[in-house]
Amino acid sequence: MGISIRWFMSHPGLLMGSVLLRVIGALVFVYAHLAAETLDIKPQVPVRHQALLQHNCQSCHGPDKQKGKFRVDELPYTITTVEAAERWQKVLNVLNAGDMPPEEEKQLDGLQKTELLEDLAKSMVVARKVLSDQGG
Ligand code: HEC
Repeated sequence: MGISIRWFMSHPGLLMGSVLLRVIGALVFVYAHLAAETLDIKPQVPVRHQALLQHNCQSCHGPDKQKGKFRVDELPYTITTVEAAERWQKVLNVLNAGDMPPEEEKQLDGLQKTELLEDLAKSMVVARKVLSDQGG
């Protein structure tokens, strides 16, 4: 120990450098933490997709019928709970698999489906991150 302190004392620039780096490191850490808290990032699914779900899904998954015990009219466009994220994940899964709408039904417009899938995939990434940070 004695040797290394004396060594640093004879190289004051190095000592200062390492202290400064640590302070900067600590500041960046605190700032990132505060930014995440104060920005209060909430995963969103763009509300514009609501029309498509209403049009193509709601007749079987709405107030009148809840096939598979699933409703699309009550999906929250701001995802604040794991449960909400899981519901959207189901939508993503059935669309990806081509399971919904059922074969004999009117199918989704290709472009709208692609956009919905892309937005959902992004939302799920953010949701997973934010909700796991909250320990939820
Ligand atoms: C003609 C009726 C009909 C339409 C339209 C329809 N579904 Fe379904 N859906 C069903 C039925 C019946 C089931 C349950 C049986 C099954 O899984 O095949 C189901 C199951 C589901 C499930 C599974 C729930 C679970 O717990 O796994 C999801 C999610 C779903 N549908 C989403 C959608 C979405 C999204 C659309 C629109 C793109 C849609 N459905 C359109 C009839 C429909």
